[in-house]
Amino acid sequence: MYRVKVSKMNNTDVDEVFRLEELVHPNHHWSKESFYNELSNNLAYYYCVKNEKDNILAYIGFWLIIDEAHITTLAVHPDFRRNQLAQILLIKMIDICYKNMVKYITLEVRESNLPAILLYEKFLFESIGMRKNYYQDNGENAIIMFTQNIWYDKFKKNFINIKEGISRILVSYDE
Ligand SMILES: CC(C)(COP(=O)(O)OP(=O)(O)OC[C@H]1O[C@@H](n2cnc3c(N)ncnc32)[C@H](O)[C@@H]1OP(=O)(O)O)[C@@H](O)C(=O)NCCC(=O)NCCS
Repeated sequence: MYRVKVSKMNNTDVDEVFRLEELVHPNHHWSKESFYNELSNNLAYYYCVKNEKDNILAYIGFWLIIDEAHITTLAVHPDFRRNQLAQILLIKMIDICYKNMVKYITLEVRESNLPAILLYEKFLFESIGMRKNYYQDNGENAIIMFTQNIWYDKFKKNFINIKEGISRILVSYDE
């Protein structure tokens, strides 16, 4: 079984996160400064998935603002996709949302990004609108996705099912 660790991203991770960011988004990636700024923002939460050699395989970022969470970034190394790593990071995020009494989670996703849309739909996010020409690199539209209230039974039951379905990977948490 593959073992991974979920840990808070910190400044010493930024070089490696940035290399992964460039690999995942060659034409429209964040700068290192963006990551450093995010890590010093009190509203922002950033987590990495690392393997046993401490290599970063995936990361997520989100903001918590009162009772709403906004996912800012989520990326998985191309060689490690379809291994439940994105689900592991979303589970970590949603657990933090419950601890912080968040009610709704939202994000924007490129309308062509079917893998991501299907991932979010698995967690019962729904498309509620569109931001026209949102992405500066190619003018692509963003789909706005929202959860229903995450405290509703339907969302919670689905979330528990997803957690129980993490079977291919042994996950430990730094905190
Ligand atoms: C989208 C992304 C984060 C998914 O990461 P991943 O670790 O491969 O996803 P998981 O293995 O956890 O898959 C979870 C679910 O997502 C959906 N999914 C993920 N990749 C998919 C693909 N290529 N085709 C269809 N469905 C896909 C499926 O519903 C899957 O559930 P299933 O395995 O039960 O079918 C990854 O492809 C990625 O990093 N893409 C580039 C960056 C990006 O688009 N980020 C999102 C920005 S909003």
